[in-house]
Amino acid sequence: MRIQRLAPLIGCAVAAMMCVPATAWAAPVPPGTTTHDNLLAAMHGEAFAYAKYLDFAEVAKASGNTALADLFTQTGNQELNEHYAELAGLASLVGTNEQNLTAAITGETYEHTTMYPGFAADATASGVPKLAELFTELAGDEGVHAADYGLARDFVTGVTGAAVPAGQVAHVEPVVVGAAKTTDKTNLANLNTAMHGEAFAYASYMLYAKAAKDTGQPAVSALFTATATVERYEHFREEAVWAGLYGDNAANLKDCISGELYETQTMYPAFAAQARAAGYTQAADLFTELAGDEALHAKAFQAALDALTKPAGPTIETGGAIAAPDSAPLALMSLALVLVSAGVALAGVRRRIRVTR
Ligand SMILES: [Fe+2]
Ligand SMILES: [Fe+2]
Ligand SMILES: [Fe+2]
Ligand SMILES: [Fe+2]
Repeated sequence: MRIQRLAPLIGCAVAAMMCVPATAWAAPVPPGTTTHDNLLAAMHGEAFAYAKYLDFAEVAKASGNTALADLFTQTGNQELNEHYAELAGLASLVGTNEQNLTAAITGETYEHTTMYPGFAADATASGVPKLAELFTELAGDEGVHAADYGLARDFVTGVTGAAVPAGQVAHVEPVVVGAAKTTDKTNLANLNTAMHGEAFAYASYMLYAKAAKDTGQPAVSALFTATATVERYEHFREEAVWAGLYGDNAANLKDCISGELYETQTMYPAFAAQARAAGYTQAADLFTELAGDEALHAKAFQAALDALTKPAGPTIETGGAIAAPDSAPLALMSLALVLVSAGVALAGVRRRIRVTR
């Protein structure tokens, strides 16, 4: 698997084979198959798209372009709440609370002991000690998360005296528009992998939180939610600023269009063909359906970009409705932004699979 975080998750998914699928209609695809690998790869892309689009919405909002902010938000929410959730159903991501905690511990331990220490070593070797410091700090956080989940698993499995911890308190990082802080290709690739992992962790933990709540484990649900908040609003954003992910509205739209076109024209058609050839009809149908959605996303983002560059021209499409033309002054779009999103609601979904490109 090209996405490093997938390796431990594939093992966890094996443990989840006996559990009830997240969506009743979905016949699970067995772990270890290419189709299952593709489901996980698509989930990383959808989770990443969600996190990125919601942060792009913050940039648009700060520039005064509320119509564009709405487009980013609506699209991002579809990536998470529909696309990610449907893929997760076929991949049998959600199991029992014990299984979910075990999957989370495996992922956190991998990041704590292997992924982030390796990325820190790469950053040091490339002469970027500040980035090495960040990766080392994140490795420490993931160790805390693994320990917290371990205590929660003790609780749900009935270990005497065990209690569920409240979890880390997130330091909500600002969305800062700017260029990447490193030009080293290895560092940039590592940041991209890390962002996908953080977004995937957020999306997965929110599904696990719902499952815990639905099965009468509110403390476990709260721990998953608290940890998800750290992944999404602290870890992901710190890495995104280093990677130069956030641009002005026009740059962000171009980035989105590129990703959506890749998914609709290349990634999902290839995944659908593979799944159909292997006999996984439901997965093939879902990949095909998502390809259609991504085409609509690309079209809507292109219309929004046209509206930015030609203020009197096309209007922004928002979920079938026609929004008011974008009238934000272009000058505002290039302002450096420092946004603190302290009260951002946790909901959500996805996109891009840069790691596989
Ligand atoms: Fe999507
Ligand atoms: Fe974590
Ligand atoms: Fe993290
Ligand atoms: Fe999309």
